[in-house]
Amino acid sequence: MAANLIDGRAISAQILAELGARVAALKFRGVQPGLAFVRVGEDPASKVYVGRKEKISQELGIHSETHVLPEATSEADLLKLIHQLNVDTRLHGILVQAPLPRQIRQEVVYATVLPSKDVDGFHPVNVGKLMLGDTDGFQPCTPAGVRELLIRSQVKTDGAEVVVLGRGNIVGKPMAAMLCQKGSHANSTVTICHSATRHIKDHCLRADIIIAAMGVAEFLKADMVKPGAVVMDVGVNRVPDAASKSGTKLVGDVAFAEVQPIAGKITPNPGGVGPMTIAMLMSNTVRAAEMATR
Ligand code: GUN
Repeated sequence: MAANLIDGRAISAQILAELGARVAALKFRGVQPGLAFVRVGEDPASKVYVGRKEKISQELGIHSETHVLPEATSEADLLKLIHQLNVDTRLHGILVQAPLPRQIRQEVVYATVLPSKDVDGFHPVNVGKLMLGDTDGFQPCTPAGVRELLIRSQVKTDGAEVVVLGRGNIVGKPMAAMLCQKGSHANSTVTICHSATRHIKDHCLRADIIIAAMGVAEFLKADMVKPGAVVMDVGVNRVPDAASKSGTKLVGDVAFAEVQPIAGKITPNPGGVGPMTIAMLMSNTVRAAEMATR
């Protein structure tokens, strides 16, 4: 592996090993962490993501259960299920996989999950706590994973110029909120760039750290990156690929081949941010079980 790669697989494996010890300590007290997955419809990517999360849960000794509802499920029926999961004491975490079908309002669903079981960090109470710098809440897994990668790769964020590409609620906005907080492994000057930003290249060229999370295949090119900058690629984009059997391939938001030689550190994709999302979900779930049974 090239010297400047941030190995998300190795770092996530280390986090899972640390969590294994905490799961064992809970077990010693007669507590098994429990996590419910809810999937609505047959979105192929969601099936893959939930499948991976289930597998890791089981390997870690977390009880997991998956509820699959048909595409035509009403919002009321989904909320009824969430209410049942909220009161089930075997469950410490609930994850409703996005995207949801059009008839269901995502924000209503996420506001219905109990904040103490909201291991996705999407409930308004947890979003508010993140903004306030209150670390008691749950933080969204993907940006928390990016931050953990920066910490464990000794990337200094204090005083750093950070550009976050993308303003989504799952990554861009919470990522910016985490890194601008006063405190250790934060304290950055954060700029959020998005589809209406003028002169994106100028912003990027000033950045010590660029976090690409806007969902545009290979958007970040070499001429947008200051030599030595740290580049974190959150993107997962399916693009046509005549050379592959399926006719498509997955690429990130970073033009990796050209950016890697000039970056100080960079996440490969796959094998960078992706595995961290699951590790942080497991971390939130173990913490939810610890807090619920203290
Ligand atoms: N869809 C894409 N990312 C996520 C995530 O982090 N959590 C959930 N629940 N759905 C997603």
